[in-house]
Amino acid sequence: MLTHAGGAVSARPDFQPTESTLEVLQSMVRDALSHADADLFLSSRGAVSDLHGLVESACGRAFSKDDASAREVVHRLLHDLYGLHLCKPRSGLTGNQYSIELLRARRAIEKAWIQWEVSRLGVVPAEIQPEEIGQAIKTLWREHAGYNHTVFDFMKSDATRPQIIKYFTTDYALNMRFYDLIVLSLVGIDEDVRMEVAHNFWDEMGQGNQARTHVRLYRDLLEYLGIEDTPDQFVDALGWEGLSGYNLLLYFAFNRREYFRSIGALAITELSDPEQYAKLLAGCRRVGIGTDRPSVLDYYSEHVEVDALHGDGWIDNVIVPVLKRYPGEARAVLEGAIMRLNSSKAYWDWQLAEMKSMPSPPKTLLAAVG
Ligand SMILES: [Fe+2]
Ligand SMILES: [Fe+2]
Repeated sequence: MLTHAGGAVSARPDFQPTESTLEVLQSMVRDALSHADADLFLSSRGAVSDLHGLVESACGRAFSKDDASAREVVHRLLHDLYGLHLCKPRSGLTGNQYSIELLRARRAIEKAWIQWEVSRLGVVPAEIQPEEIGQAIKTLWREHAGYNHTVFDFMKSDATRPQIIKYFTTDYALNMRFYDLIVLSLVGIDEDVRMEVAHNFWDEMGQGNQARTHVRLYRDLLEYLGIEDTPDQFVDALGWEGLSGYNLLLYFAFNRREYFRSIGALAITELSDPEQYAKLLAGCRRVGIGTDRPSVLDYYSEHVEVDALHGDGWIDNVIVPVLKRYPGEARAVLEGAIMRLNSSKAYWDWQLAEMKSMPSPPKTLLAAVG
């Protein structure tokens, strides 16, 4: 139902956005998405300009006024709009993948958000030659405030079993989407870099072993822990920090002009996983996760091993050859790396706060897992 959208909330310049306007925006997009033809649905209710006015005011709150609730709403919208391009084939799919109005809304959100990300870049190293890019990326990574984030030390040494399980549910969205990200990273790329990306893809696919695909390994862990596979609920539980980390990699992958930022961001993902996951694995064993069946932790132990190779492989066999061809794009590669570092830090800060806000288990339970 969209009874509230037909002009009752208008985008007049004097219009003061409130909490409820965020809710109106959310339900307007959800209603449009559930209709077979979102454009027809919006135009027949005279809601097109309302939609764009609401998006504009929500983005203003999110990225100019530092309003976290608005940031969460626009990132959730972006997440759902990206979902139009990623959903599984099934009967009854709508034609909304290329809805003009929804694409306009998506563009407006992306533009406001990326301007905000650019404003947080800080100093980007200049005049970096292709051969120096690996060192430049690793220096940015090691000197970033998110390096060696305390959320992983917390899980290694202090977190309870439920707190670590919470981490698994917040990590779900991006982990389960990584296959698609790698597939998108294969589209339209230069022939000489295809093999490295294909290696990444093949590792995602368990090197041909169905039981070892990364998606399967993650599901094995969830099943072992008795966590029901409820993707929508996991996404509902994310703050803007988790949503924006997910959206950042998809935004890069979906926009051809962002290819150079995309390869910088993916390098950071590969570089940072091994050390962090090693701490997470130590934490799991400390609280008894997988001690009776070590294979349930293979999603993480596999990434400790393969990502140690992927990080340098990505730099040497993708970024360096690409930059030798397009030397003027070194800055974009580094920008992508910094954006990924910034969004990861925000996400880990949020995860740590979420874990620490969980109620402490009764002492008897602690003794049982200690
Ligand atoms: Fe993976
Ligand atoms: Fe990897």
